[in-house]
Amino acid sequence: MSGGNSQALTAALGAVVGEQDCVTGPGTERYLVDHRALYRGAALAVVTPRSVGAVSRVLAFCNERRIGVVPQGGNTSYCGGAVPDESGRQVVLSLERLNRIRSVEASDYSLIAEAGCLLVEVQRAAEAAERFFPLSLGSEGSCQIGGNLSTNAGGTNVLRYGMARDQVLGLEVVLADGRVLSSLPGLRKDNTGYDLDDLFLGAEGTLGIITAASLKLLPLPRAVATAFIAVRDVAAAVALLARLRDATGDRVTSFELVPRLAVELTVKHIPGVVDPLEAPHDWYVLCELASPRAAEPLDEFLEEALAGALESGLVLDAALARNAHQGTAFWRLRESIPEAQRRDGASLKHDISLPVSRLAEFVARASIWLGAQFQEGRLIAYGHVGDGNLHFNLNQAPGASRERFLAREADVRRTIHDLVHDFGGSFSAEHGIGRLKVDELERYASQPKLALMHLLKAALDPQGILNPGKVLHSA
Ligand code: FAD
Ligand code: MLT
Ligand code: ZN
Repeated sequence: MSGGNSQALTAALGAVVGEQDCVTGPGTERYLVDHRALYRGAALAVVTPRSVGAVSRVLAFCNERRIGVVPQGGNTSYCGGAVPDESGRQVVLSLERLNRIRSVEASDYSLIAEAGCLLVEVQRAAEAAERFFPLSLGSEGSCQIGGNLSTNAGGTNVLRYGMARDQVLGLEVVLADGRVLSSLPGLRKDNTGYDLDDLFLGAEGTLGIITAASLKLLPLPRAVATAFIAVRDVAAAVALLARLRDATGDRVTSFELVPRLAVELTVKHIPGVVDPLEAPHDWYVLCELASPRAAEPLDEFLEEALAGALESGLVLDAALARNAHQGTAFWRLRESIPEAQRRDGASLKHDISLPVSRLAEFVARASIWLGAQFQEGRLIAYGHVGDGNLHFNLNQAPGASRERFLAREADVRRTIHDLVHDFGGSFSAEHGIGRLKVDELERYASQPKLALMHLLKAALDPQGILNPGKVLHSA
């Protein structure tokens, strides 16, 4: 594209979206680099539409001219899905100005939020109506609900409440040619043909742009109990989960695995984080129970169940949060693990999931290989063990060369993902595909699945303008 040509295009785009909402050059930098700084792209322009009509006009404009459009929410995702390629020919469409809570219906237990609302704003809007929106991630202060739905985000409450997909009653989506598809205000029961909403959840902006969503709300949790528990090993963590679910009337909302190294790194790198237990142990679990009944004695349930587990040797030690402040401190440790890892040096990330029953065997098998073949790395396997989802990450070992550590990325990834596949698991549990894992999807997805995905893409986006090269290679 010549300079004059691109100037004319951006001027025309400015006329479509509003000049003040179409930016080029300086000021666009933050939209061009992904959260992990894996990709640095370039853009024809960054547009920040303020209405669904403006999103629709931008898509119609770009569709006619076959200009790629990259939707962007909070730009916190891990697979490079929200940033443009290096060509300088794509338009970034940020949802940040489409950020109104349109309505909260306490009696329907639902609210309608525009895509650009931060996740934390959705949680607060629910709370203001004495309702609860359960999706919770470490990035909730900066990710947007549209991004959460487009990545089908998981987080720390999935065990009890499900993924982002499970929170949806209805969607408003702008299609590639600018038409608006809406199932708002969203019904709990609606069996009128194919479930089209589901197509856009987890599609990472490749099939349409979500502009608003009707979301399910729940009664507010009024009793909460939190414990930081040292367990014998990963198998003990899995066994403890089943015990706690039984013993507490299935009140467990979060069950997060934390290895010793994660405690050490958070204490070292994150101000204010302290080790909750006196003696060190190899593995821990951060467990939370919640109930909408204020009178439910969750602390007692937890204490009793843990006492039994201590006796049987599953649990080695535990600290029960005696107040909200202590509970917050446990969560701060858990949620700071990614940041502590980042501050400690280079890391390799694998967002894997397996049947919960096979996690311990997987960790043991993979650890043997890593111990023998990858001394430059230290394993930090942590996360949503209750969902069978581990962040099976590796950090550069002390004294190891950064270059040699990073040079092993491809073969370590291959070994881990192949092993996950052999165990019947997934190489992307909650972080999506983006640009980073397109080849992984081609390697591990079945032929019928890939063929159907390409068919859907061609049907919904015949010009191939929606987030080109993400999830699937461009046709
Ligand atoms: P973006 O990064 O902006 O976009 C993500 C993808 O969705 C891109 O492909 C983009 O093109 C597309 N997109 C964005 N908005 C729209 C829209 N309105 N319509 C269509 N497509 C759109 N993830 C988890 O699942 N679980 C976790 O526990 C978790 N913890 C995290 C902790 C930290 C500290 C950080 C930094 C990230 C974490 N993440 C986690 C990853 C990330 O926050 C989530 O993937 C989140 O859902 C991304 O939202 P976003 O608004 O930043 O989306
Ligand atoms: C988490 O659960 O902390 C994230 O999904 C993983 C990460 O941030 O690396
Ligand atoms: Zn996670």
